[in-house]
Amino acid sequence: MDQFLINGGQRLRGSLTVNGSKNAALPIMAASILTEGETVLKGVPNLDDVQTLCHLLKQLGVNATRDAEGDLRLKVEDEMNCHAEYDLVRRMRASVCVMGPLLAKRRQARVALPGGCNIGDRPVNLHLQGLKALGADVELVSGDIHLKAKKLRGAEVFLGGPFGSTVLGTANVMMAATLAEGATVIEGAACEPEVIDLADYLNACGARIIGQGTTRIKIEGVSELHGSEHTVIPDRIEAGTLMIAVAITNGDAVISNCRVDHLLAVVDRLRAVGVIVEKKADGTQVSSSRRLEPITVTTQPYPGFPTDLQAQIMALLCLADGNSIITEKIFPDRFVHVAELNRMGAKLRKEGPVVLVEGVKRLVGAPVMASDLRASAALVLAALIAKGQTRISRVYHIDRGYESIEKRLNAVGADIKRVQE
Ligand code: EPU
Repeated sequence: MDQFLINGGQRLRGSLTVNGSKNAALPIMAASILTEGETVLKGVPNLDDVQTLCHLLKQLGVNATRDAEGDLRLKVEDEMNCHAEYDLVRRMRASVCVMGPLLAKRRQARVALPGGCNIGDRPVNLHLQGLKALGADVELVSGDIHLKAKKLRGAEVFLGGPFGSTVLGTANVMMAATLAEGATVIEGAACEPEVIDLADYLNACGARIIGQGTTRIKIEGVSELHGSEHTVIPDRIEAGTLMIAVAITNGDAVISNCRVDHLLAVVDRLRAVGVIVEKKADGTQVSSSRRLEPITVTTQPYPGFPTDLQAQIMALLCLADGNSIITEKIFPDRFVHVAELNRMGAKLRKEGPVVLVEGVKRLVGAPVMASDLRASAALVLAALIAKGQTRISRVYHIDRGYESIEKRLNAVGADIKRVQE
């Protein structure tokens, strides 16, 4: 297993480029199951999660390969296997997004029920509620969800849950509805940019979807989808992470391929802290040169502050001049980073879904452990500014969502070494 040795205290300066979005690419890759012909996906990042889904898609009869240009080419070759096994689903929960496409195209799906993970329970009741409304029979057999339907029929589906809508649930129902008979209306749909990107890809393949990006998505079923070429949107979570990396080191960098319109809540909070964020011709300039102001942050569904940046902004607020409050409203248990940041000298106190952050003058390097993708990113950020050396073990969690993060940060002045544990 790899670990990172990070020597803190270097200011990040220069330019950084955001990669294509992991969370947009994964459902779009799964959606290729619905299509006849070839899909060419551009801008798919080279990440462990993408490899895992390629592996699963291959098991499901989809030829998934990178071509010489680095584009991902996907083509269904064999529709016999409809079983997404526990071994892969447990490694990557996003594997559940093959459920809707398998059901719609092959009339059946057998998908291992994903267990919980370090960010919480992660139920799929809303996915199943939506697919049932379209006519699926659903049964749990030996830990696998079995779904069957002779024919899917359009229906009105409500996807609001106790923590808001569901991103992958909306994706699953939307994908299934593209090949259902008649019209489906998803009320309480997730509005995240990744859902819009999926709908745009499906429409390019011949689907008839309107309303993506709002809480009411309407899908008119069609009899067949063809392949298409699509470029995935830039990764807004990676962009936000890079912005915070620059801010936490009091750096100054231009971040390109960054959709600021997808990051309005994040930019709002960074400006409240005192970070300068400015749109420039070649990207978004982020700089910070003074002690940070304390703020409150509440995670919410899009366009609110994303849960996927909660850990990273916590690392930043550890160094603010006063007390900040962070409230997690999407995954109330997503706080594995709290104890690790405290090991580095942070003063964090968790009270249910709220963390009180007492700002400190400095963080200090320590051995810490990565245990979930975004929590690990927060540890890297903290280590960039900590005094001395931080050793982060189990960095495979980071590799799931950030491509070669150490090389990219080193190129703007960081000091990160990847070594074997
Ligand atoms: N929920 C239910 N029932 C369901 C589904 C979800 O109650 O059937 C609850 C969840 O427990 C949570 C809330 O609804 O409290 C939102 O969960 P959602 O379903 O939206 O999460 P997801 O679709 O499984 C995606 C991202 C996550 C991101 C969340 C929230 C992908 C592959 N994953 O997960 O990304 O945190 O949306 O924005 O798109 C990450 O990239 O690190 C990551 C975890």
